Amino acid sequence: MADKAKLDLGDKVIELPIVEGSEGEKAIDISRLRAETGFITLDNGFVNTGSCMSGVTFLNGEKGILRYRGYPIEQLAESSNFLEVSWLLYYGELPSSTEMVNFKKKVSSFSKLPEGIEKLVDTFPKTAHPMGVLSCATAALSAYYEDFLGPQPTKEDKDVLFAQLLGQLKVIVSRFYRKSQGLDLIASNPELDYCSDFLMMMFGEADADVAKALDVLLILHADHEQNCSASTVRVVGSSHANIFSTISGGIDALWGQLHGGANQAVLEMLDEITTEGGDAAKALEKAKDKEDPFKLMGFGHRVYKNFDPRAKIIKVACDTVLEKLKVNDPLLNIAKGLEEQALKDEYFVKRKLYPNVDFYSGIIYKALGIPTNMFTAMFVLGRLPGWLSQWKELREDTSAKICRPRQIYTGATERNYKKLDER
Ligand code: SDX
Repeated sequence: MADKAKLDLGDKVIELPIVEGSEGEKAIDISRLRAETGFITLDNGFVNTGSCMSGVTFLNGEKGILRYRGYPIEQLAESSNFLEVSWLLYYGELPSSTEMVNFKKKVSSFSKLPEGIEKLVDTFPKTAHPMGVLSCATAALSAYYEDFLGPQPTKEDKDVLFAQLLGQLKVIVSRFYRKSQGLDLIASNPELDYCSDFLMMMFGEADADVAKALDVLLILHADHEQNCSASTVRVVGSSHANIFSTISGGIDALWGQLHGGANQAVLEMLDEITTEGGDAAKALEKAKDKEDPFKLMGFGHRVYKNFDPRAKIIKVACDTVLEKLKVNDPLLNIAKGLEEQALKDEYFVKRKLYPNVDFYSGIIYKALGIPTNMFTAMFVLGRLPGWLSQWKELREDTSAKICRPRQIYTGATERNYKKLDER
């Protein structure tokens, strides 16, 4: 394999370096392209464009592989827990038992919000979407922690911020839920594990099986390399904006239906199919109709052109949790029917459209008692350590530049201004 790529522009041939990652992925480094040729590249949706070199998460979409810092997601979902996985993503290694005990204590110590943030959360209408509340309250934390607004976070800052945001966002989500339901608040219990404590703060009860299922879901959502919201975190973070604004940007990007908002959209789609008689075939025809904006939510993926390994794990967890909770949700049967028919349908097979992480997660969240409009907020709690890990890697990369893409202009060429009475 050559270590350089030749680009022949007709009147000029240039060589561009080829870089290779630890898993054999290759890229053409075009850092010098414009300076040497005046050309830029154009890549709608960055389908073929790498934004960075990263050691946090590796995924191979063709083979359905996902690893956090080299550890297969299947092993972490089976044997680890969400806080341990969070530490692994952020610091690059599994924690020692002492580090784990101290980290859990530190996260639990951030179980209170500044009074002003409590008031802010409480001022939202009960019907507000939790993602809007979460984004706003997260950015507003910047008003109470001015020490973290400087341009260069110290190691201590990064250690504290990691635990603080993991602790406080859990409180924001549960506080808004209780308030929106007109319920009294339930304080955090530092003796409980992260998920049991969250469930207690939400519902006043925490079944061990439910907490374990939630812990697995959060592990599966913890990071996913340069997805839309992680890329947003990197773009905002590249300007050296404070961490609160940076994470708030990630929350906003995740809200979109094509991204994290899909888990809520899947449930709404399954409900609609059920209301209309449960005809999966009709939904598939709508999804295939180019004139119809309807897409089969929870299906397809930019990277996975094979099964999303997380969807496989969640599907099994779905059956287990619903059986343990003795929940018989007809939506699960509709979902399985849709999956079965889609995987045999030429349109989906040709485009390699498989169920993604969002296809079954909503059914489990529903079984765990999480309201539909909070599904994406649960995705935030899961993805938070991934965003923070990507941000930390970016800020520690001394070669990182502010993200500022180029464009190809297609508007009006130069013309002169005419006064009103001359037009
Ligand atoms: C997440 O990137 C990540 O890692 C994201 C994520 C993470 O962990 O961070 O994995 C989480 O966001 C999962 C995806 C959740 N979104 C959805 O489930 C929404 C439905 N899916 C689609 O909108 C779509 O599949 C995307 C957005 C996920 C991917 O879109 P791409 O990569 O831009 O692919 P595309 O739109 O170019 O699709 C290729 C073809 C098109 O048809 P043709 O033009 O070739 O004829 O497939 C079709 C699309 O119309 N297609 C679908 C479809 N998804 C793609 N057709 C019907 N239903 C679908 N769901």
